Amino acid sequence: MSTMEAGVEAKAFQAEVSELLNLMVHSVYSETEIFLRELISNASDACDKLRYEAIASPELIGEEGPPKIRIIPDKKAGTLTVTDTGIGMDRQELIDNLGTIARSGTKSFVSRLKDAKDGSGLIGQFGVGFYSAFMVAERIVVSSRRAGSDEAWTWSSAGGAGFEIAPAGLGEVPAPKRGTDIVLHLKKDAAKYLETYEIERIVRSYSDNIQFPIELVDDKGEAKQINSASALWQRPKSELKPEDYKEAYKSIAGAFDEPAMTLHYRAEGRYSYAVLLFAPSTKPFDLFDPARKGRVKLYVRRVFITEEAELLPAYLRFIRGVIDSEDLPLNISREMLQNNPQLSQIRKAVTGRVIGELEALGEKQPEEFAKIWDAFGPVIKEGIYEDFERREKLLALARFTTTAGEKRTLKQYVADLKSNQTQIYFLAGDSIERLKSNPKLESAAARGIEVLLLTDPVDAFWSSMPLEFEGKPLTSLSQGDVDFANIPLLDASEKDEHKVDADEATIIALIKSHLGERVADVRASQRLTTSASCLVAGKHGPDRELERLLARQNRGIGAKPVLEVNLRHPLVASLPQAGANAADLAFLLLEQAQILDGELPEDPAAFANRINRLVMAGLVEP
Ligand SMILES: Nc1ncnc2c1ncn2[C@@H]1O[C@H](COP(=O)(O)OP(=O)(O)O)[C@@H](O)[C@H]1O
Ligand SMILES: [Mg+2]
Repeated sequence: MSTMEAGVEAKAFQAEVSELLNLMVHSVYSETEIFLRELISNASDACDKLRYEAIASPELIGEEGPPKIRIIPDKKAGTLTVTDTGIGMDRQELIDNLGTIARSGTKSFVSRLKDAKDGSGLIGQFGVGFYSAFMVAERIVVSSRRAGSDEAWTWSSAGGAGFEIAPAGLGEVPAPKRGTDIVLHLKKDAAKYLETYEIERIVRSYSDNIQFPIELVDDKGEAKQINSASALWQRPKSELKPEDYKEAYKSIAGAFDEPAMTLHYRAEGRYSYAVLLFAPSTKPFDLFDPARKGRVKLYVRRVFITEEAELLPAYLRFIRGVIDSEDLPLNISREMLQNNPQLSQIRKAVTGRVIGELEALGEKQPEEFAKIWDAFGPVIKEGIYEDFERREKLLALARFTTTAGEKRTLKQYVADLKSNQTQIYFLAGDSIERLKSNPKLESAAARGIEVLLLTDPVDAFWSSMPLEFEGKPLTSLSQGDVDFANIPLLDASEKDEHKVDADEATIIALIKSHLGERVADVRASQRLTTSASCLVAGKHGPDRELERLLARQNRGIGAKPVLEVNLRHPLVASLPQAGANAADLAFLLLEQAQILDGELPEDPAAFANRINRLVMAGLVEP
């Protein structure tokens, strides 16, 4: 950080910024034109902020008038300038905002990008922001004056390791009166961005919905407005075409994908407000960020207030868009928003509408709904344990892979219940393949009972609560006792085929005596038809999958499982005659059940020794 000449200070970029710039320069992203959208979106944010601050301090508007954005191509100089008369940045803000990546999610995302062989797939998932301008510019000069300040500062950089900061107006660019001027010294291969038709095309396709006027200045110095600068959500639905909505989605959400669902309406009555919301069709990179922040923007009479109002519950945090209230006071402070009763009303009503719309989409356009469910299903399912009031509705939205097929709803499940079946059965685990080969499904399969196969980490949590759908309790096949006795077998001849001769009580007692404290209980299984044994959780306490998940985070409660054995299996039936091998056999029943659940035996070496001993003994002899 040396002082080079009077007032000029050199500073280094934060490491992640250098990495990001490196990626930009080697242009992992083929659509370089998005740099203009990013700069305009920053300019628009700055205009929003000025308008918000001017509510309390109207003098900030002053002589400069209402905020606007200008684009000035200069073919002779090879520069493209984007200016805004928004809030501006002071010296420290220039250093912080254009020298670091503040958001933690973005920071870790950049590290992931760097490690990925080809980042182009990933990079589309997040707004590349200001730094994207280095895709087209070899040098960038940003001059800025915070509204109301008597100082203006210039930030300049040619990418690489760092930037310089100096008082504005020293070099070739005069200091702005309010807001920010960004001068891009374009690379040779980016000269097309100096053509007015190209600029107009880009602005029309990405930024038409920006609410502030965007003016293009031609080579004669004449400015003309090139966007419509209207708040699209205030326009009647009948005037708008599907393309208008797609465009609005991209510019409001800063997204690259297409919306899978659009919800636009105006609520009148006790409170009036306009709603324009979208469900994306792809996952953003920070979907599982622990902060679980929503992204719906609150406006009051077309003035942007905040993105932090949490206008939807956290399990709908993937929804993007705008809610524009007519009744809230403009000068409402961001802190007051938390407890505002009017906002709670709006939140409640809009949440209901969003869920209703998802429901309708699931019925009318299942392919579009599937995109949303595939990307955000695990998030929506958080609502099943968080939103008591809407639990049944959210369960109805859910799509499941089951032993009967994919994308099954609980409605379909209930319609297909077997005779005498009164419960909805599920099994939770790591992967569909592994679940499908789980012995706990055997007896259900023999009766043609459909079983939900749950593999999202969140499933272990919501499914461990007592739940019902249409009056049918959801029951885990790896927990408690299951009773299939009244549900007929598909193939009735199977029924009493391997009649058990050995005394059930003797076998159970024998296994218990050897396993001792290792299991909570041993009992004869109703779940198994061909496998010898399986492990299930006790009736109370967490399901096996939840216990495993908690144990991985060191939060397990060490609940002991119940060993269920299949008395019809020859290995089990032979126990009373096994003599000295009975102990090894009992442990084998426990350990193979662990392996089938995807766990390791507690002592793998002892396990191997046991198998070897049994094989050597020539077991199993009847
Ligand atoms: N034209 C501008 N006026 C005021 N602040 C700006 C401007 N451009 C960028 N900034 C500041 O720099 C930050 C970084 O911008 P960017 O990389 O686009 O990320 P993001 O817009 O997602 O925050 C912005 O959050 C803002 O604080
Ligand atoms: Mg930005």
